[in-house]
Amino acid sequence: MTTFPDDFLWGAATAGHQIEGNNVRADIWAMEHVTDAPFAEPSGDACDSYHRYAEDIRLLAESGLNTYRFSIEWSRIEPERGLFSRAELEHYRRMVRSCLAHDVTPVVTLNHFTVPAWFAREGAWAQPDAADLFERYVRFVVTELHTEVSWWITFNEPNAGALLLATGALPLGAAADDLAAGQRKMMAEFAVRVGGTPGVASMAIPVLAPAAMENVFTAHRRARAAIKSISPAARVGWSIAVHDFQAADGGEERRDAVLAQAVHPFWELSREDDFVGVQTYTREVYGPEGRIPAEPDDNAFLTGWEYYPAALGHTVQQASAYTGVPALVTENGIATADDKARIRYTSAALEGVADAIGSGAKVLGYIHWTLLDNWEWHSGFAMTFGLIAVDRDTFARTPKPSLGWLGGVALGNGAALGSETSAR
Ligand code: BGC
Repeated sequence: MTTFPDDFLWGAATAGHQIEGNNVRADIWAMEHVTDAPFAEPSGDACDSYHRYAEDIRLLAESGLNTYRFSIEWSRIEPERGLFSRAELEHYRRMVRSCLAHDVTPVVTLNHFTVPAWFAREGAWAQPDAADLFERYVRFVVTELHTEVSWWITFNEPNAGALLLATGALPLGAAADDLAAGQRKMMAEFAVRVGGTPGVASMAIPVLAPAAMENVFTAHRRARAAIKSISPAARVGWSIAVHDFQAADGGEERRDAVLAQAVHPFWELSREDDFVGVQTYTREVYGPEGRIPAEPDDNAFLTGWEYYPAALGHTVQQASAYTGVPALVTENGIATADDKARIRYTSAALEGVADAIGSGAKVLGYIHWTLLDNWEWHSGFAMTFGLIAVDRDTFARTPKPSLGWLGGVALGNGAALGSETSAR
């Protein structure tokens, strides 16, 4: 017996645009190719997982992990407005079946930042029929896959833009009212302005236009209702980004303001869901004057984030207490070239989750970010968050010791935590 429930999901996560390669119908692909594109390099072939998913899933399963979170690319399913591709749907069905053949539970994300270029051109989430269009896509996918998929995440980090605003990384700009015109150019400008922050393109825009944010809320509710009408037993939620927001003396008000603006409105909706997806990597500490930068640390992430694995246990507890529904860790991990540091970090983060469970939090699973070294949005391929290294020329996969370690932890349902040699 360990602290972790018997049916705990132990997995790794990916996102279509970051690993598939040649996702040419997506808005972000278009942004990658504008003049002075604000990306270190384009996504290009990425990890070629579009063709190599079977190997990826096999490596995940052989390590001992039992869950794979991946996303479906709306722009492949509906490359032009109203044109649905059965062939692409079959591609994702093959992925699902590959999971099931290995006794791996698929957890499927329906939107991981990217949207079809046509949807972006028409105004993205600001257009009046945004929620209708999203629901239509969701219905198409879920009608086909519901007998084999029972875990659905509607949106990945719909609060990414809200977080950037609340934490001061993205100043409110005059472009806010100008959504329809020059959509593509503007998205690129947003990304430049927030320098280095992933995923801003599709999700910053709703924040800048409140009506669009409302559309995303509606889209989540409508997608949830659609999924439940097709598959009443399905488990539906969305994944919310949350740092462990802490207050130094006198910083309580600022800390609370960030939570109230960028996290709580999203957790409100989770109250009606089956779970709340928790995505935590680090903490942010606030004083009376604002954010207090972290001390430089040898363990720091390649992304520059503070090494603070205890963050996850804290946010899991906060998310489940606030929403009243179980938490599912849908992302947690570290960008580092030092795989031992990845094991140390993940082990400590999981101890935090175990403590949260010990204090009464209901937690359904831990899904690590990420399975493969991939295309990390603005930063290109340099940020190695993966449990598996990928050769940029041959796409050869090389599992890192951390994959075997995490798989070993999974096989013992957490019993091996604290040891660095749990590998199968
Ligand atoms: C996103 C991922 C991203 C990861 C690391 C999350 O914000 O969902 O797509 O790669 O964090 O930055």
